[in-house]
Amino acid sequence: MAFNRTLITAALPYANGPVHIGHLAGVYVPADIYARYLRLKGQEVMYVCGSDEHGVPVTIRARKEGITTQQVVDRYHELIKRSFAEFGISFDIYSRTTSAIHHRFAADYFRAMYEAGQFVEETSEQFYDPETGHFLTDRNIRGECPRCHSLGAYGDQCEKCGATLSPDELINPYNAETGNALAKKATKHWYLPLDQYQAWLEDWILNQHKEWRPNVYGQCKSWLDGGLRPRAVTRDLDWGIPVPVEGAEGKVLYVWFDAPIGYISNTQELCADQPQKYGNWEKWWKQEDTRMIHFIGKDNIVFHCIVFPAMLKAQGYNLPDNVPSNEFLNLEGDKISTSRNWAVWLNEYLEDFPGKQDVLRYVLTANAPETKDNDFTWADFQARNNNELVAIYGNFVNRALVLTNKYFEGKVPSCGELTDYDKATIEDFKNVKATMEELINAFRFRDAQKEAMNLARIGNKYLADTEPWKLAKTDMERTATVLHLALQIAANLAIAFEPFLPFSSEKLRAMLCPSSLQGGDGGRLFDWNNLGNIDLLKAGDALGEVSLLFEKIEDAAIQAQLDKLARIKAENEKAAQEEALRNWRPEPVKEPNSFDEFEKNDIRVGTVLECTNVKKSDRLLQFRIDDGMGGRTILSGIAQSYPDPSVLVGKQVLFIANFPPRKMMGIESQGMILSAVDADGKLVVTTVSAPVKNGCQVG
Ligand code: 2FM
Ligand code: ZN
Repeated sequence: MAFNRTLITAALPYANGPVHIGHLAGVYVPADIYARYLRLKGQEVMYVCGSDEHGVPVTIRARKEGITTQQVVDRYHELIKRSFAEFGISFDIYSRTTSAIHHRFAADYFRAMYEAGQFVEETSEQFYDPETGHFLTDRNIRGECPRCHSLGAYGDQCEKCGATLSPDELINPYNAETGNALAKKATKHWYLPLDQYQAWLEDWILNQHKEWRPNVYGQCKSWLDGGLRPRAVTRDLDWGIPVPVEGAEGKVLYVWFDAPIGYISNTQELCADQPQKYGNWEKWWKQEDTRMIHFIGKDNIVFHCIVFPAMLKAQGYNLPDNVPSNEFLNLEGDKISTSRNWAVWLNEYLEDFPGKQDVLRYVLTANAPETKDNDFTWADFQARNNNELVAIYGNFVNRALVLTNKYFEGKVPSCGELTDYDKATIEDFKNVKATMEELINAFRFRDAQKEAMNLARIGNKYLADTEPWKLAKTDMERTATVLHLALQIAANLAIAFEPFLPFSSEKLRAMLCPSSLQGGDGGRLFDWNNLGNIDLLKAGDALGEVSLLFEKIEDAAIQAQLDKLARIKAENEKAAQEEALRNWRPEPVKEPNSFDEFEKNDIRVGTVLECTNVKKSDRLLQFRIDDGMGGRTILSGIAQSYPDPSVLVGKQVLFIANFPPRKMMGIESQGMILSAVDADGKLVVTTVSAPVKNGCQVG
C-alpha cells in the first residue's frame, strides 16, 4: 500500500531523571535522523514524543528526593524537554502524560474498550501492607530468595542469583520501603485478554512482518511461542489516571496502558494547536495512507509489538509498520544506570562540551547499538572527533573555504574544463544518494552516516591530490575548477549530513550560501533530492563568514571525564558495601554436631612472635607462634584484611594445633589460626581477652 505521510513515535521517557547518552543512542537520535531525512525529501512527517509521567519509577524518585510526585515530573519533564531541544531532536511535539488532554483521552480509550466488552474482569489475592493500606508492585516487595536463600530478593527477580521470581515465591515477603510483613487481600482488576489476539498477532507479525529487525522479530516470536496470557491493565496505586468505571475507586490505569496512548493524545494536542499545518489527528491514526514507525529500546518490544497493537486493533486504529528497536549502549564497559549514576547525562555533557552536540550525535550513531549492545568510551569519542570530524570532514571543508577566500575573494570560482581525475572523483560519489537512501530506509543509520563520511573522504582526498595551494602559483584557471568542484562537494556534505549533524549542516550552509538561511530560493538548494548534484553553487556567489566546523578535543578534557567516572565508581562501591552491611544476617546455624566431634579439634592459645607477608602472595601471612611447645609456623590467608600485619605481633591468638602440616608457597604451615568472617568479608583474628599460658587448650 502506498503511503502519503509518516508518523514517527519515539518511546516516551520516564520523567524520573535526566536523559543520558543511552536514551539518545537507542531511540531519539535514530528517530530524529529518520524524521529529518523524510522532511528533507519533502515528505509529510510528524515526529511525536513526550514524558511518561505515571508508573512506579517516578513515585520512587519522589520518595528518594523527599518531594511530591508532581514536583518530580514537573522538574524532569522540563529538563528532558530542554535537553532534547538542545541536541536538535526535532519533535513536532514533546508533551506529557499528566496533561489534561491525555488524561481525558486515555480514560476514554479505556472506557471504549470496557463498553465494547474488550476486557476481562478478575478478582485475585494480591500482596498488601496492612499498616499502610497499600497494595504493592512486584518491585516493592522483597524477601528471601527461594533458590539461593539470599535476603532482599525482589518480587520479580533475585539480583544475587539472577532467578526470575514472582512475589508469591519469596520467603517471608515484606514491603521494601516500610519493612512491614505483608498480607494478602482480594482486589479486582481489568485484563486485556491477549490470548484472544494470539492467532491474529502470529499472522500479523510472524507472516506479514518478516522484515522487522531480527531482535524484534525474535522477541515477538518467543512471546508468541510461549502462549499469550491476559495482562492486567489496571493497578492499585494512587498515582496515575483513575480507572473511569464504577467499582474502580482507588485504582489507576497501568502505566503501560496509558503511556503508548500518549502517542495519540500528543498527536491530538498538536493537531488542535496547528490544524493548518497538521490537519486532523485522525488522519494520522486511522487513514490507511499513513505509515507509523515506533522507535524504541529493546526493553519496550513486547509493549509496542504485542500489547499496544492489540489495543489499537481493538479500537480500529492503524498498526505500526515497523518497530525499529535498538540494543543497549554501555558506558566504559558497564551497564548505564540511572540509580547508580553511571551515565553521561546530556545536561552535564553540554556544560563540559558546550556547542558540541553534533560530536555526540556523530559518535552515538557511529557506535549505535543497532544489532548488538555497544560500548561508549571517552577514548573512542575523542578519536572519532579528532580523526574523523576534524581531520576529514572539517579539514576538507575548511580548506575549500579558506582557499576560496584567499584566491577568489570569497566568491565561488567558475568551473573550467573537467579533467579525467575530476570526472573520476564525481563518479566516486555518484551513488551516495541511492546508497544512503537504501540504508536509511532499512533503519541502518550507522552505515548511512559512514557513507556521508565517505563523501567527505572523497573531498579530502581530492584536495590533497590536486593541491590547489600549489596550483595557484602557476594555473589560476585550474585552481578555480578544483575549488569550484570542492565547494560543490562541500554543499553535498551539508545535505548528506543534515539528518545526522544538523547544527554543523546549518553552519556549513551559512558558510557556503548565506542566502539559504533567509529561506529564499537558496533554502531549496539543500534538499535531499539535490544530493549528488555538482551544480548547486553558482559561480560568483559570495560565501559567508568562515569558521571551523569542528575543533580538536584535548586529552585533558577526556581525562576529566574519566576522573569523574572513577569518582562515581568509588562512591558506588562504597554504597554497595554499606548496603551489604545493612542487609547482612548471620549464616544459618550448621547441622547439629556432637561434643565428641568438637573435641577432636585441638585448639590452643599462642602468642604471635612475628607476622609478615609471604613473598609473591597477596593472600598469605606467615606467623611465628610461641605455642609453649617450642614454637611453630602457621600460614593464614588473611593478608587482604591486614595491610599492616605487624599489628598482630604480641597478641595471643587461637589456633588448631592438630591439623596435618601443609605446604604453601614452599613454606610448611603447622596449623590454622582462627578468625571471624565479618559482614563485609573481612577476616578478624580472634584474640584472648586476658593473658593465659601459651599452649593451653581451648574447649
Ligand atoms: O521504558 C520507558 O522508559 C517507558 N517510559 C517507555 C514508554 S514508551 C510508550 F509506550 F510510551
Ligand atoms: Zn537468589
